[in-house]
Amino acid sequence: MTHETGPQRTSNSEVDLALFGALGDLALRKLYPALYQLDREGLLPNTSRVLGLARQEYDTAAFQARVAEALTQRVKANELDKESLKRFLARLDYAQVDFNQAEGYETIRGWREGSPRPMVVYLAVPASIYGAICRNLHASGSLDDETRVVVEKPIGYDLESSKEINDAIGEVFPESRVYRIDHYLGKETVQNLIALRFANPLFGTQWNQNHISHVEITVAEQVGIEGRWGYFDKAGQLRDMVQNHLLQLLCLIAMDPPANLDADAIRDEKVKVLKALKPFTGESLGRDVVRGQYTAGTSGGQSVPGYLEEEGANTDSQTETFVAMKTEVANWRWAGVPIYLRTGKRMPEKLSQIVIHFRQQPHYIFDPDQRSLAANKLIIRLQPEEGIALHVLTKDSGLDKGMRLRPGPLHLDFNSAFPKSRIPDAYERLLLEVMKGQQYLFVRRDEVEYAWHWCDQLIAAWETHDLPPRRYPAGSWGPVASIAMITQDGRSWYEDY
Ligand code: BG6
Repeated sequence: MTHETGPQRTSNSEVDLALFGALGDLALRKLYPALYQLDREGLLPNTSRVLGLARQEYDTAAFQARVAEALTQRVKANELDKESLKRFLARLDYAQVDFNQAEGYETIRGWREGSPRPMVVYLAVPASIYGAICRNLHASGSLDDETRVVVEKPIGYDLESSKEINDAIGEVFPESRVYRIDHYLGKETVQNLIALRFANPLFGTQWNQNHISHVEITVAEQVGIEGRWGYFDKAGQLRDMVQNHLLQLLCLIAMDPPANLDADAIRDEKVKVLKALKPFTGESLGRDVVRGQYTAGTSGGQSVPGYLEEEGANTDSQTETFVAMKTEVANWRWAGVPIYLRTGKRMPEKLSQIVIHFRQQPHYIFDPDQRSLAANKLIIRLQPEEGIALHVLTKDSGLDKGMRLRPGPLHLDFNSAFPKSRIPDAYERLLLEVMKGQQYLFVRRDEVEYAWHWCDQLIAAWETHDLPPRRYPAGSWGPVASIAMITQDGRSWYEDY
């Protein structure tokens, strides 16, 4: 598990973007809206162009019309102005290419002829064809030593398959030009974690096992499988969400301060966290890990089917749609501090938040019945609304209240704190960073591999020890056992803000 440290690229963001999978779901739902917003905000240089590549027989005009339709569906009407739309669509070209056939790649060379700009190749396609595309690009002579490649998760199904994929990419692109997306790293509050932790001396001195009692990371989704049963059933919630998004959040919470903000300084520290994650043993597995699968229930006021009744379902699937676990980063900073992770589909609401629970004062002097209140909590909310709240205790007001304590938040709500600024979608930030050639918000190969290593041993353990998923009704917070898992430690999941 080595990595190459490359020079940081220029911050000039002029590029030619070759987009594979140009008519796919990701491109239509996320990439064009993000590129459009960058263009509208004046962040896409006039010279930058996009070549959409897909198998379908389209010409450029039909492609532009399809993108315009997608933008109409995805971008708020008041943000879709005619002039910006026209300017954006004029940047788009289309080429019909069979990605497995070397011939079609000539088009890219033709399109690039004479361009002084670096090319970004975005692979919005399944990882199984990353290798073929990279090889064909190379063979067609379309690449130079500035070309960057962007790839999406899932990078493999386990450590072994992820190595095969990374090897195939690595045959053509050095690590310094590979941008692996974890879209959680593009979320505004996730980046704010770095600022919060490393710009505020208050937290810098408190951020360790002397002062923090435990940490919770919850990523709850209200949606179910959304027609993706075939993909999801092979993956499950651990591979789909924990291996990437939750472990990335955990790394940002637990990492040591990097020496600077360079991509490798940050990623070196994240890797140290992944290496220090405690593996599960047969004994801790039954106690500290809960798998779940949703049954029929109610979501957003509507009756919804169970996982096994979803379209295309295999009715004896044992795949988990929920997972909760207690883990620990076994190092000097964190030894003895439980980190509770929880993520699931069909939960009561979409809620992603990190809660840092600080330890109580060593000596307590207030009313005994309020003792359990007497600790601070820092809540970092990623969605639905982004913000940070520090829960502190003050005296309750009123002559009759004596020295009764009242917990309350010091609250930074991003929407009201920055009312004029639109909170950008994660893909806007990530595309901008690729265009600038900045890698700090992208996942390095060794991060992917250590994350797989840890998940693989967990999956192997639950297969050996037969840990079938427990049922939970859609619209609930998961199996009762996940509540018992944390209450056995005298704690509870924090669901408020
Ligand atoms: C994706 C997963 O990576 O993240 C999906 O494959 C999941 O299953 C999605 O729904 C959640 O992303 P977000 O940004 O909506 O929290």
